Amino acid sequence: MSVRRLAPDHVQPASFAFTAANENWADQQIAKYPEGRQASAVIPLLWKAQEQHHGWLPRAAIEEVARKLGMAPMRVLEVATFYTMFSLQPVGEHFIQLCGTTPCALRGAEALKKVCEDVIGPQSTVTADGKLSWLEVECLGACCNAPMAQINFDYYEDLTPDNFRKLLGDLREGRPTKPGPQVDRSCSEPLGGGDTLKDPALFDGSVIGAGDWQARITRQREDAIRIASEKAAAEAKAKAEAEVAAATAKTGPTDVKTAPAPEAAAPGRPKPSEPNQPAGAAQDTPSATGKAIKDTPAKGTAENAPAAKAAPAAEPAVAETKPQLLTAARDGKGDDLELIWGVGPKLGKMLNEMGIWHFDQVAAWTPAELAWVDARLTGFKGRAVRDDWISQATKLATGWRPESALGDKPVK
Ligand code: FES
Repeated sequence: MSVRRLAPDHVQPASFAFTAANENWADQQIAKYPEGRQASAVIPLLWKAQEQHHGWLPRAAIEEVARKLGMAPMRVLEVATFYTMFSLQPVGEHFIQLCGTTPCALRGAEALKKVCEDVIGPQSTVTADGKLSWLEVECLGACCNAPMAQINFDYYEDLTPDNFRKLLGDLREGRPTKPGPQVDRSCSEPLGGGDTLKDPALFDGSVIGAGDWQARITRQREDAIRIASEKAAAEAKAKAEAEVAAATAKTGPTDVKTAPAPEAAAPGRPKPSEPNQPAGAAQDTPSATGKAIKDTPAKGTAENAPAAKAAPAAEPAVAETKPQLLTAARDGKGDDLELIWGVGPKLGKMLNEMGIWHFDQVAAWTPAELAWVDARLTGFKGRAVRDDWISQATKLATGWRPESALGDKPVK
């Protein structure tokens, strides 16, 4: 049993406020309970506050939840300090909860603790780069694949000192990792493969006449994403055209040179060249909103048109094209880009500095524009492609919101 105290004052933020999206989510949770029973929402609200505050609960967040639920701060503090799912101290970007209970201990958890101490340091300290922290916890219910650890929202099982050390290195460097068993099994079947229930027909629905339900679900999912993608692209185009029209009406057609409307995110679609438009016509001209960055290359200009003579013999696998960027968020307020799975505070800041503020900007990228951005994610290169930001942003641009403030993990 350990004493759970609030973090020291010097790491406590002065204040805490839910984001607009989380405020809205919290109101929906509170509305689930009858009048006078709003305190029942205390755990979901604390959980959401923790998610928003980089994985730990500061005092100000506890007080904000108390204020929102009309509870005495002490009552909320009692809940936050009782449940170990709430971290009261800062945690790393990757928070490792290492199981030390008997089954995991018998299968080698002690050696994993030494790896944590070696790579990260003592429990509850965050590495200097902010990437890792760890804590020993009680059974997490995956004993059949012991020893194991929960890292943020994923379980990593069948750990050994070697694969665990490598896993920590991969997390630290932003390399992709595979949650679940780290050995050659997919679930919790016996090591070396199962001996029973091996007939695939047992799992495809054919035994009960359900047909190929997996293919049907996959089809439905693809249809939903395609429809959302088309809708977002059409809305982005209409919005850009409306902005151009508004600016033209204001300043007169001869004075306005605009960057082109964002194109629909149509993977692989070739870009038409526009021979009547002088090369770079939009490059030194503000957009209709006056916010487009001046050197934003126009789609279809000489920069993007098929090269007439100097085309290299071998094109790179994915060409890079600079997408349309902004000098500031439209109306002074950008979208919460951290709702895109894989985008954290650092990447969000990096994207803003590039001129990317809105979901519809990302949704409108072509694969070449995605490649351009991806290549410039210093320290996170490959993440935008790996996590399929275009599809995620396409859904977000429609107004859809994920359950988690971290976004909706893409299904591979
Ligand atoms: S003992 Fe480790 S998951 Fe149960």
